[in-house]
Amino acid sequence: MIEEKVDLRREPDLNSIQSTFDIAIPNDPLMRVIGQEEAVKLSRIAAKQRRHLLLVGPPGTGKSMIAQALALHLPRPTEEIRVVHNPENPERPFVEVKKAEDVRRELESREFAEGELIDPKDAPINVAEKLGYRCKNCGTYSSPKDRYCPKCQRLKIGEISSTNPFGDLIGGLFEVTIGAAGISGLPGMNDRVTTTRKRLGKEEVIVFERCGEMIRVLDQDALEKRREFEKISPRKVLVPLERNPFVLATGASETELLGDVRHDPYGGHPSLGTPPYERVVPGAIHEAHEGVLFLDELPHLGHLQRFILTAMQEKRFPISGRNPQSAGASVRVDNVPCDFIFVGACNIQDLEQILSPLRSRISGNGYEILMETTMEDNESNRALLAQFVAQEISIDGRIPHASRSAIDAIINEARRRAKIIDGKTNALTLRLRELGGLIRSAGDLAIINGDKFIEEKHIKAALKHCRPAEEQIKDRYGSYQRGLSADITTSQKERSPYYFWNEHRDQDQMFH
Ligand SMILES: Nc1ncnc2c1ncn2[C@@H]1O[C@H](COP(=O)(O)OP(=O)(O)OP(=O)(O)O)[C@@H](O)[C@H]1O
Ligand SMILES: [Mg+2]
Repeated sequence: MIEEKVDLRREPDLNSIQSTFDIAIPNDPLMRVIGQEEAVKLSRIAAKQRRHLLLVGPPGTGKSMIAQALALHLPRPTEEIRVVHNPENPERPFVEVKKAEDVRRELESREFAEGELIDPKDAPINVAEKLGYRCKNCGTYSSPKDRYCPKCQRLKIGEISSTNPFGDLIGGLFEVTIGAAGISGLPGMNDRVTTTRKRLGKEEVIVFERCGEMIRVLDQDALEKRREFEKISPRKVLVPLERNPFVLATGASETELLGDVRHDPYGGHPSLGTPPYERVVPGAIHEAHEGVLFLDELPHLGHLQRFILTAMQEKRFPISGRNPQSAGASVRVDNVPCDFIFVGACNIQDLEQILSPLRSRISGNGYEILMETTMEDNESNRALLAQFVAQEISIDGRIPHASRSAIDAIINEARRRAKIIDGKTNALTLRLRELGGLIRSAGDLAIINGDKFIEEKHIKAALKHCRPAEEQIKDRYGSYQRGLSADITTSQKERSPYYFWNEHRDQDQMFH
């Protein structure tokens, strides 16, 4: 019985394990990437030195995985980005960048300004009555939401006027309008009571406020802090301090990538509409500030590549309304920080569609890396492949561990694929997404059969399911082309939506 998990990177001996259960999975996310030594080495440098990366290679070789692992190697964000109302010109809100320690200090002092919460029973009796916690008639405490005392069933605040049948309502309305913060209170109740108290021989103002089932007590210090906060211009947090350092922008639209200002049907009217600063939305480039901006299938980005280029160079990018029809179009926030590490990924054949100035920015301040598709078939790489099997099983979470014989079968398949796909002998494939698929289907078979481990037989059976359709056609019909023509029978042809167009084109043309 093996108790300690085996670190196969340090001791690459497959004989020391009985199943994937015995294999240690590294904590460092970059150590989980196998066979891409160069890419991993340069990713570590990129994380430390804040360099960009372009990962070039076929699907399923670990490009996305590396970009994510790199982001996990970055220090935590140190800045929060906010937009601040500009009283002189609301359509030009300011940007404000706050350091982590300032954000924390602000949070603490805000909590301080919030005052102390006390039980209504601990408040002076007249305060508890005025705020609607205590019944004036019988002295019972209840929720300020109840207008009538649950004990004596009478109006808690007492009879306001005995001559007017609507006295309670009028009195209520009157008090609500007088008390500045009265909107949330029930008629006849105050939302806040201001009194004075003596402390250290000095008289000071003290405010009691209704706060749900509790009463908030604000002393002189707390009141001053609150006044300070009210003086500061209103603001909105655009990119919070606590955020994911990995931002995936694949398939993002222009507004998702660069930010936007939402439309307001009232055109940001001071009292009806939403003020412009509140409608500012960050783009992926801003959300990736201090983190990684990852773009898969880079060439599909088309003309948007230019904006990435500018953002990378300036490390700041304005946010403006991108729809000319929208009221947001007149709003613009300049200099919004976007200091990200750019990681782009693409296939070899797409390489030439990447904007050359963008490529030169990457290579001028980072690295272009061609991913490996195979690795040498040696003891340590076979051990790495076993580590990969353990990882895939652990990520999936729904399949059992793989026995040693199953691991060997997977290694054999990796060897076979290196040969047929990449024409390499003495090599193991690194097209690992597909190999992961094989492990999962074998795992499903083990589960269906009620077996405790994934065994060699499950891998063999799964291999039958896991063959690409083209390979299956070739086997059945001798060649892919023959399969194509054999598959189209006359009746199927007629059912094809293009049949009449294809076959009767000449007749069709006669009608025109
Ligand atoms: N080098 C590797 N080491 C370990 N696991 C890998 C590796 N490459 C791929 N995998 C496994 O395959 C999955 C898919 O890999 P990933 O998404 O990184 O591929 P990709 O190169 O980004 O592919 P695509 O071009 O299709 O986006 C990973 O989540 C991981 O489970
Ligand atoms: Mg990917």
